[in-house]
Amino acid sequence: MITIINIGELVGIVPSGVSVLKGAEMASMGVLHDAWLQIENGKIVDFGKMPGQAGHDGHPRHDRGSVIDARGGMVLPAFCDSHTHLVYAGSREGEFLDKLAGLSYEEIAARGGGILNSADLLHETSEDELFEQSMVRVREVLAKGTAALEIKSGYGLRPADELKMLRVIRRIGAAVPALVRATFLGAHAVGRGYTHASYVDEVLRMIPDAAELADFIDVFCDEGFFTVEDTSRILEEGLKYGLRPKIHANELAVSGGVQVGVQHNALSVDHLERTTSAEIDALKGTETIPVMLPGSSFFLGLPYGRARAFVDAGLPLALASDYNPGSSPSGDMRFVMALGCIKMRLTPMEALAAVTLNGAAALGVSAQTGSVTRGKRADLILTQPGWSLTRLAYNFTTPFIRQVFASGEQLK
Ligand code: NIG
Ligand code: FE
Repeated sequence: MITIINIGELVGIVPSGVSVLKGAEMASMGVLHDAWLQIENGKIVDFGKMPGQAGHDGHPRHDRGSVIDARGGMVLPAFCDSHTHLVYAGSREGEFLDKLAGLSYEEIAARGGGILNSADLLHETSEDELFEQSMVRVREVLAKGTAALEIKSGYGLRPADELKMLRVIRRIGAAVPALVRATFLGAHAVGRGYTHASYVDEVLRMIPDAAELADFIDVFCDEGFFTVEDTSRILEEGLKYGLRPKIHANELAVSGGVQVGVQHNALSVDHLERTTSAEIDALKGTETIPVMLPGSSFFLGLPYGRARAFVDAGLPLALASDYNPGSSPSGDMRFVMALGCIKMRLTPMEALAAVTLNGAAALGVSAQTGSVTRGKRADLILTQPGWSLTRLAYNFTTPFIRQVFASGEQLK
């Protein structure tokens, strides 16, 4: 048992049974000032107001196990990053120079750079080496406060290499106390040596084996990549094998990706840098969660998603890092949260909901994590003294973490 006492602000309290926060509800996560919280067997067992860490039975509960004095620091739910590509080989720094010289993401891809460059690097890298390289990034994001994350394949682009990626993602899930979910993104780009049509057929053939290792299926449904028709065929095949869609839509163009995702009951539709009111209408009344990735808007100079319009329309919104070597080489969810405030005009509390409970919902794990709720996994961040939620977004590069807990395990 661990008891944290003298918590200045315990932030992100949500009643049990609430799986996602929509629209105005995103501003409603609870805050308790001057609080304590108890962790046992990896779970949040209880919390309350100081003094006296009395539990419901009235007995002092801090006489067993260890006590951590928060000295006025804040405790908040750990981040849930529902969209990453952090399993990759090598780096794409060379393309970064091309980008600085003025080439667009599409121009770099058209020159054989981009995703195909990563696929070549990954092909030459052994499975063990890929695991080791990826674990460096996993450890990095855990130390930065992420305790649940999704990782996609999509730099294999041929059967053996896609499966290699999915096995590495599974291995990561077994190696760390964070919750890890795997997504099969065979349709990330057309693999070398295939025509567009023959590659779509190859993706369809990969699905049965991929479904043994993956939780979700994704398609890069965008201009220059895969069409709405390709997406529909791939998602239907995936659903036959129990893979719920989480798709890339509307990054480079108004692609129809949101609508095709909704039609296939996607868990989430992600990116959404370019949307109209038709996309908002298509999402209303559905179970599909819109996910925006402000790190790629920042890095590529794309428009930011219209977060305010989505939230004001009553939709839930999650924010994720998109950690990948081409469009968002950072998995820092605190920076994502800050961009949500600074560039997308979310309030700090709305942005917190977007990177915690709603991220967990977009990952299908919100019954287990994403909020301060009795019985949930103790996935928490304890800050240094003197921090508030607003300051996380305001002093957006100042180190703030004292301790990260993933399933009650102290990571830092
Ligand atoms: O989410 N948009 C597609 N895929 C990634 C980028 C992948 C890459 O450039 O390596 C993304 O931005
Ligand atoms: Fe992505």
